[in-house]
Amino acid sequence: MSFVDANTHVRGESLYLDDLPVVTGTLYACVYSSPVAHGRIRSLDYTEALDTPGVVRVITAADITGENQIGGIVPDEPLLAAETVDFWGMPIALVIAETDEIARAAVHKIKADIDPLPVITDPREAYAQGHLIVPSRTFRLGEAEVAFADCDFVIDGRADSGGQEHLYLETHGAYAIPLENGHIKLYSSTQGPTAVQRTVARVLGVPMHQIEVDVTRLGGGFGGKEDQANGWAALVALATLLLRRPVKYILHRMEDLRMSGKRHPYSSDFRIGLTKDLKIKAYQVTFYQNAGASADLSPAVMERTLFHANNTYFIPNLTATAYSCRTNLPSNTAFRGFGGPQAMFVIESAIAKAAEVLGVPASDIQRVNLLQEGDEFHYGQRAEGCEALHCWTDAVARFNLAQLRQEADEFNACNSLYKKGLAIMPICFGISFTKKWMNQAGALVHIYTDGSVGVSTGAVEMGQGVNMKMMQVAAQCLSVSLERIKLETTNTTRVANTSPSAASATSDLNGKALQLACHALTERLVAVARIRLGVREEQSVRLQNEQVWVADQPTELTWSQLIWEAYQQRVSLTEQAHYATPAIHFDLVTEKGHPFAYHVYGTAIIGVTLDCLRGTYVFDYVNVSHDFGKSMNTLVDRGQAEGAIVQGIGWMTLEDLQYNTAGKLLSNALSTYKIPDIYAVPKEIDVHFLDTPGSDYAIMRSKAVGEPPLMYGIGAYFALRNAIRAYAPNTELPFSAPLTPEKVLLALYPEFARTLAPQPAGKTTA
Ligand code: MTE
Ligand code: HPA
Ligand code: MOS
Repeated sequence: MSFVDANTHVRGESLYLDDLPVVTGTLYACVYSSPVAHGRIRSLDYTEALDTPGVVRVITAADITGENQIGGIVPDEPLLAAETVDFWGMPIALVIAETDEIARAAVHKIKADIDPLPVITDPREAYAQGHLIVPSRTFRLGEAEVAFADCDFVIDGRADSGGQEHLYLETHGAYAIPLENGHIKLYSSTQGPTAVQRTVARVLGVPMHQIEVDVTRLGGGFGGKEDQANGWAALVALATLLLRRPVKYILHRMEDLRMSGKRHPYSSDFRIGLTKDLKIKAYQVTFYQNAGASADLSPAVMERTLFHANNTYFIPNLTATAYSCRTNLPSNTAFRGFGGPQAMFVIESAIAKAAEVLGVPASDIQRVNLLQEGDEFHYGQRAEGCEALHCWTDAVARFNLAQLRQEADEFNACNSLYKKGLAIMPICFGISFTKKWMNQAGALVHIYTDGSVGVSTGAVEMGQGVNMKMMQVAAQCLSVSLERIKLETTNTTRVANTSPSAASATSDLNGKALQLACHALTERLVAVARIRLGVREEQSVRLQNEQVWVADQPTELTWSQLIWEAYQQRVSLTEQAHYATPAIHFDLVTEKGHPFAYHVYGTAIIGVTLDCLRGTYVFDYVNVSHDFGKSMNTLVDRGQAEGAIVQGIGWMTLEDLQYNTAGKLLSNALSTYKIPDIYAVPKEIDVHFLDTPGSDYAIMRSKAVGEPPLMYGIGAYFALRNAIRAYAPNTELPFSAPLTPEKVLLALYPEFARTLAPQPAGKTTA
């Protein structure tokens, strides 16, 4: 059994939020949202909606019994707009009706009179006007400003990366059921059951113990449900509180696309200084993060951008500054990599530009600047167990970089309308929540009297395989077969005060808590076995493969018998445990510390063939040497790596969020927002599991895998860029992702592109 959900998934039997049996009397909700991106609400007319047969109630900000506030880090995000609307799609009112269809139809009968206010969608413009979410932060090592003077080459540039829609298969949603005494049971499609519980309690004005949140699994989260499931849960819970009836809301795809936040677009300026031997001596970078209308997780995302400013290079003089800029877009949020990929795109752009200016392959610069053991990161931590060079040299040798290069060169020499491009993408990603207090988890284990085991943790299964990993941990610690273990739903009454399943740390944190609980149970059971078997004190007793062993010999006593015996002896067969990552800390004044339990490394070589007539391309291969440590489940880990690579390639080359100047999302359906499909995936993805020791802080030395491989996708951008330059060496190509087929085509034919570009008024083309 490599993946516990595989059976029910392929049979269509896995339960998601919308599959839960609906309780009699359930009402359906639908949001009326802002038709403009910024404005002041003069009036709201919902009489016609309310008069519609089947409509039970229309809820507005005035009906909120607690606080109209869902901002987790900064209290700047109303659940329902009260005075102003701040983005196109901001929830204003909630229609509650007897059926989903009636609720949706009634929404169209609501009218809002809104005085328009100026709309900002560009982070640099927001910055210029002083609209910052939080004060800027600067991370520093050495003195970049001074060191540039000693550099042989100094190169300036700008890099822009776009947003990204999470496009989890399962849209946002929540289902609230009233219990007695005003208590509410909530089913939510959330990565963070505790975040939902906390937010709902705040909005309703009730204690957290009145709210129970239960999650079976998600049809994908990718960060989009780390914080942004809270609002939908709060809306249905509010309706349930007011009406004392079950209320359900599952967003339609276009509602989800319009109303929910995405990956943060960034616009950045860089300056990179190198010596003659291609060492990066100084690097200065300024990040303008497009936060959207409210803070949400933006300050934390901004922080991780700063942490990953150097990607996997040692840069002795580095200054990184970040601004979180408030714009009139839906509030952008966590997305696989959490600001790290955006930073890494900038340093890779800086290296690519330097390479182009100096006329050397980018890999020559990358190679000589790779982090080495003991090197200091600009945030104070030193590289320990550094695998940067190991991954690089393995990838170069294993996949024969010289030959891949030669093949591409020969191909390019004899093909005029097709060109090949190649890029290397080394990565380094820090594992731990960047907020120290979030690095904790809990587990609760029951052994039932027949020897079967029920496991609860704070981990949420969203397709990343964490349930399978938790089963493996429990089975290994208790030394029983996987069939004995059942993974329970994630529920706030069984494991409380959890962190969201995020930061790639879910298995590490919850797995370690689970190990503690299982070890406590094992010790207790061994004591029972000693008494039952009358073992002398100096003899060792242990459980192995569902059998009690004494002094390295199996006994007759089986797991099932032992459990029954323990029960007869009135020994507790339940244990709960808590884990907190040791040895991490960070000082927000000096911006120095040891924020990460460990780092994950890897190197990818990416090859692309470009059709220079059409601007279309195929990725021929993504060859990776990756630092998994001692992978505890190679199928799950390979799946994570492959999925992340494709998602990263999508972000860098296909997925293009388009807003008009009024702030309306134009790419608001799957017809206009293109994610990688079977034709867009690389022809070959070859992920090699490098033999690395893992880390003490990684569960069973199996390193966190969820996010890091996404950043290999950045290499796809540079491979494609190199293919374009093989065809049109002098084309001007800004560092601007995504590099969509349209942009590729315009880059291939710059003369043609110029005729298409909008001309300033009063001027004509020469
Ligand atoms: N894989 C699948 N199939 N679905 C997801 O939603 N989320 C990603 C990654 N892999 C995701 C996924 C993100 S953003 C994170 S942080 C991690 O999984 C979270 O799970 P982990 O901590 O168990 O790796
Ligand atoms: N990753 C994901 N979520 C987070 C983080 C992080 O590093 N920090 C705070 N929330
Ligand atoms: Mo992942 S972006 O930390 O949910």
